[in-house]
Amino acid sequence: METKLLTLEYQYFARWEDLSPENQALVARAEEASSHAYSPYSHFQVGACVLLSDGQMITGNNQENAAYPSGLCAERVAFFHASSQFPQLTITKVAIAAKPESHTSFIPVNPCGGCRQVMLEYEKKFQQPIQLITRLGDGFAVFPSCQTLMPFAFDKFSLQNSR
Ligand code: THU
Repeated sequence: METKLLTLEYQYFARWEDLSPENQALVARAEEASSHAYSPYSHFQVGACVLLSDGQMITGNNQENAAYPSGLCAERVAFFHASSQFPQLTITKVAIAAKPESHTSFIPVNPCGGCRQVMLEYEKKFQQPIQLITRLGDGFAVFPSCQTLMPFAFDKFSLQNSR
């Protein structure tokens, strides 16, 4: 038996001003998108903004449903919108912003497992990492790829021997 160690590398930016102007713009668009979330059940507003290879920014927010599992997270709304409208454009970055409806300021939030799986799919599709920007502690984390947040994932290569 061997014990193996997996390390996770990300960049931490203690202040908003330390983020690049592009990342600031993505976070700002994600925050703006969160204000249009349809979240009458959780009262938790999430926004996501993806950057496409042509510079376009596509936003999404969580869409809830009285039949709870029928709702969808902000990240998936944004990714599915981007992929359905611009299937040929690579997704290069995603920013996430979230806050309870009653709060005035945003809180640190990490994408759920289902969204990590979906984001990873597009990373594999384009064979290019998707940078993920989100709040962490009092600052911001920039993860170099979705794979970083989803090691040992199930992906298309897992299906290779199924036929
Ligand atoms: N939510 C997201 O939109 N993204 C995540 O990564 C986690 C959770 C939404 C789903 C639901 O509408 C609300 O937040 C509470 O879970």
